[in-house]
Amino acid sequence: KKQTQLREVAGVLLQATSVDNWSQIQSFEAKSDDLLICTYPKSGTTWIQEIVDMIEQNGNVEKCQRAIIQHRHPFIEWARPPQPSGVEKAKMMPSPRILRTHLPTRLLPPSFWDNNCKFLYVARNAKDCMVSYYHFQRMNQVLPDPGTWEEYFEAFINGEVAWGSWFDHVKGWWELKDRYQILFLFYEDIKRDPKHEIQKVMQFMGKHLDEAVLDTIVLETSFEKMKENPMTNRSTVPKSILDQSISPFMRKGTVGDWKNHFTVAQNERFDEIYRKKMEGSSINFCLDL
Ligand code: A3P
Repeated sequence: KKQTQLREVAGVLLQATSVDNWSQIQSFEAKSDDLLICTYPKSGTTWIQEIVDMIEQNGNVEKCQRAIIQHRHPFIEWARPPQPSGVEKAKMMPSPRILRTHLPTRLLPPSFWDNNCKFLYVARNAKDCMVSYYHFQRMNQVLPDPGTWEEYFEAFINGEVAWGSWFDHVKGWWELKDRYQILFLFYEDIKRDPKHEIQKVMQFMGKHLDEAVLDTIVLETSFEKMKENPMTNRSTVPKSILDQSISPFMRKGTVGDWKNHFTVAQNERFDEIYRKKMEGSSINFCLDL
C-alpha cells in the first residue's frame, strides 16, 4: 500500500505537502511577464509545456532539451521537502518565467490576478481525463491508489481526487477567460489540428516563427516523438515516484479511450451528471468523441 496523503483546502483535495506549505504558496509573488500553464491533471500539461518550450526556443530541439534540464517549469503548488518547493524554484528563475499549476481559479495565489499575468489553459474532455487519471494514479507512487475502476469512477465524479472536481476546475477557468489574459485551448483541438493550435500559442506568446519552424514543432511535439524523448517521457523520474512498469507516463495520447473503459450504464450516468454539473456554462464539450 502506498503511503500518501491528500488534505483539503477550501473543499479541494491537494497533496498534504502542499497544504502544509499553503501560506507560502498563497503569498507567491507573480510578475507581470509570467506565463502560467494551467490544467486539470492529465489534460495535456506535458504536451503544452513542450509546445511552449519549442516556441520559446524557436523550434531548436537541442536548446529545448537543455532548457528543460536547467529548469523544468515548476508547479507553484509543488512542495516536497527536502527538494526546493515550486515557489522557491520559481524565485530562482530568470524572467520571463513559465510556470505551471493544476490549481482551480479560486485557490490560485492572488498576485497572478493582480499582475494580470498570461494564462494558458488546456482542457481535456472529462471522460478521457478520468481514464488517464485512473492509470496515472495506478503508477504514481505519491498519489493514492485509485481502487477499482468502479470506485474511481465515483471518486472522480464526486471530485474526491487530487486537485478536486474536474467540473469546477474547467468551469472556473472558462468563466474567467474573457476577464483576464487567458488562452483557453482544448486537448482534442490540438490533437485534430496541432499546427493551428500551436500558431495560437505562438501569437499569445508574442512570437513570430515561420512555416518551416512551425512544422518542426508539430513534428517534435507529436505523441510518438514525445514518447521516445527522455526529457518528456519522464523516464528520468525514479520508479519510487513514477512506476512506468505499471502504466507508462506517455500512455496512449488519444481521444476517445474512455470507450474502452466506460460501461454503457456508466456512460449514461456520466452524461446525466455532466449536464447537471455543467448547466449554465457556455463551454461546449462533445460527450461522444
Ligand atoms: P493518456 O493517459 O490518455 O495517454 P499530463 O501531462 O497533463 O499529465 O497529461 C498526460 C496525458 O497527455 C496522457 O494521456 C499523455 O499520453 C498525453 N500526452 C502527452 N503528450 C502528448 C502528445 N504529444 N500528444 C497527445 N497526447 C499527449
